[in-house]
Amino acid sequence: MTRRCFIIGHPVAHSRSPLIHGHWLAEYGLTGSYERVDVPPTEVPAFIARLRAGEFVGGNVTVPNKEIVLPLLDEASATARAMGAANTLWMEDGRLHGDNTDAYGFLAHLDACVPGWAERTRTALILGAGGAARAVIHGLAERGVGRILLVNRSPERAVELAAAFPDVVEAHDWQDVASLVGGSDLIVNTTSLGMHGQPPLEIDLSALRPGTIVDDIVYVPLETPLLAEARRRGGIPVDGLGMLLHQAVPGFERWFGVRPQVTEALRAKLEADIPRA
Ligand code: ATR
Repeated sequence: MTRRCFIIGHPVAHSRSPLIHGHWLAEYGLTGSYERVDVPPTEVPAFIARLRAGEFVGGNVTVPNKEIVLPLLDEASATARAMGAANTLWMEDGRLHGDNTDAYGFLAHLDACVPGWAERTRTALILGAGGAARAVIHGLAERGVGRILLVNRSPERAVELAAAFPDVVEAHDWQDVASLVGGSDLIVNTTSLGMHGQPPLEIDLSALRPGTIVDDIVYVPLETPLLAEARRRGGIPVDGLGMLLHQAVPGFERWFGVRPQVTEALRAKLEADIPRA
């Protein structure tokens, strides 16, 4: 029987996950499919019923359904519960399981690009306070980053997210970013600013210390203006594509029984699909 997998979102046409899983299916010579299914929030319960009935072995969940699926699971991983959202689902012994692999993907890419980063990251600066920021903070805290400075356009969201990680995360004003840059070992943009079609991310990096890691989870374009400026100033740029690739690994392994590798060939395939700046 062909193992069928899905990504459900609304919209979902833009998702590059089928490219990733299709590459791995071919690479490992596996029979299976990975399909985009446009599922608006109101139709999520009906779709989950199809999964439980055996039509699929599992799949991914993207915006705006990641939070909606959580209460529909039989087993949510500790990370999914901490995130309040699941992005990876699978059936196991007739029960529906869900995990959130965004933090894993973020960390795995950072590990690959900057080995030893955690040992030299005492203070991190996070821009944005949405779901992606929550995943990044969860990952950094898990790796022992002791001080996380958080800024967001809407300050109340930064304060609320900071409260979920007491003693580690401090909320600051967006206007103070320039003065926080110099004391940070790692800076992460989790907002959509700088993405094609979105406003630019305008922050003053003049105080950036050489060797500071600057990670942008935006990957369209691959080198965002933030990363280009960080590079010019001697920072270590880390792009957002790797997080997308690595977050896909645990799901593929659950569904198809092979732990896939994030290779240069896979990256090149995705890069070819991303419009140039
Ligand atoms: P995600 O789950 O991908 O993190 P989200 O929850 O919608 O998505 O969060 C988007 C983030 O980008 C938020 O931090 C948002 O700031 P607000 O909380 O103030 O909305 C930020 N963001 C989006 N557009 C922005 C803009 N034009 N200027 C500043 N921040 C912006």
